[in-house]
Amino acid sequence: MSDFKQLHIQALVEANWETPDWQRLEPTWEGNWLLERHSMTERLKAHCDTLTVDVLGLHEIERGALSESERALLGDETCMVREVVLSGDDTAWLCARTLVPMSTLTEQEKDIAELGAVPLGHRVFNQANARRDAIEVAHLTIDGAVLLARRSRLWVNEKPMLVSELFLPHAPIYQEEG
Ligand code: PHB
Repeated sequence: MSDFKQLHIQALVEANWETPDWQRLEPTWEGNWLLERHSMTERLKAHCDTLTVDVLGLHEIERGALSESERALLGDETCMVREVVLSGDDTAWLCARTLVPMSTLTEQEKDIAELGAVPLGHRVFNQANARRDAIEVAHLTIDGAVLLARRSRLWVNEKPMLVSELFLPHAPIYQEEG
């Protein structure tokens, strides 16, 4: 496993997720990013010419290996794990780990296991009934820097998946404008 993956994905797995203080966070620049209910992919795209996805990993995780909170949010089920890095104009901006229960990867959603370099948000938010809930936030310390992260549940055709996202140091969430 690469050092990058070991460090960043492991930090997401071990994060201490907390319910956000909406009133305090919502009016702030970073809060506005963290609480985004629509597509993070779209939001990042607005800050670069080219957004690219590199798949770091795609594997299965047995239900016994899920954390208690993951089980509570998704159900007690074997999941597919998708791990990616998103880059804006070749600068790494976001590292994400998504858990997709096998019962979500059925019928129209089978293709979610085979997205490759297509961003998840691009696939999910193309669908009219997509929605996001259960947004939580965390601060993760990596190489001495405190980075922002969030976890949220996405629904597509009433089937869930759980997306954890870590904003890397050069991400636009840290570059307040104006
Ligand atoms: C993904 O393609 O897996 C992906 C893309 C953007 C995100 C999270 C996950 O914000």
